[in-house]
Amino acid sequence: MIDGVRVCAIIPAAGSGTRMGTASATSKALIPLGGVPVIIRTLARFQESAGVDDVVITLRPPEIDDVRGLAAGAGITKVREIIAGGAERQESVRLGFSTGTARRAGLIVVHDAVRPLVTVDLIDRVIKAALMDGAAVAAVRPRDTVKIQEEQGLVTPDRTRCWLAQTPQAFRRDLFVRAIETARKDGFEGTDDVSLIERIGHPVSIVEGSYENLKITTRGDIRVAELLSGGGIQDHTRY
Ligand code: CTP
Ligand code: MG
Repeated sequence: MIDGVRVCAIIPAAGSGTRMGTASATSKALIPLGGVPVIIRTLARFQESAGVDDVVITLRPPEIDDVRGLAAGAGITKVREIIAGGAERQESVRLGFSTGTARRAGLIVVHDAVRPLVTVDLIDRVIKAALMDGAAVAAVRPRDTVKIQEEQGLVTPDRTRCWLAQTPQAFRRDLFVRAIETARKDGFEGTDDVSLIERIGHPVSIVEGSYENLKITTRGDIRVAELLSGGGIQDHTRY
């Protein structure tokens, strides 16, 4: 609870990890990072966040029992429902959003299972911003120059106005009900959650995120995340 508002976290984890080149059976969320599975690291941060009351996870069905056992073993007590995800991320979030647990909340915070380096501070800042403004997103400024490939050639947007959206993303539940209905009516498929809210004309606040809050997408990201999480640091003495 925060200011008397019940907060539900939805953790989508039902992806198939195609950019990882997963011929491997292990899902991205279950890859161990310094011995701890990615999703357990992520859940631990939500467990620690005082504002978060309940957690809903979407998974591929064969992984549900494994994750339930791992979470219980790690002392994660806020997980109320673990359900099967959908074919696309947006569908997985929508399914999580339609659970009884999410319906009881006034505020929803969505966070990718595969961003295990999120901090409690960032989760709390995004929740507080969404409570104030209705919707908020963690984002960082691009370090590189952004190019957009238009039909007639490249266009270079003003970098100082560009943001790279991460998760956590948080919003009032009633606002997302409208956003998701409109997206469904229009057949709009977003790659993040607040894009659905932008489309109904409601402003979304930006909360400065962190470059370390990386999304494990490719094999190389696992090594970077391992270094950032403290595993493998001893290697620096060798070079
Ligand atoms: N996700 C999900 N349901 C889907 C697709 C994605 O719950 N149908 C989740 C992923 O498990 C991940 C988060 O959404 O925690 C971000 O997705 P992404 O990094 O794109 O993961 P994948 O979709 O698994 O990877 P890829 O796009 O390379 O296939
Ligand atoms: Mg994906």
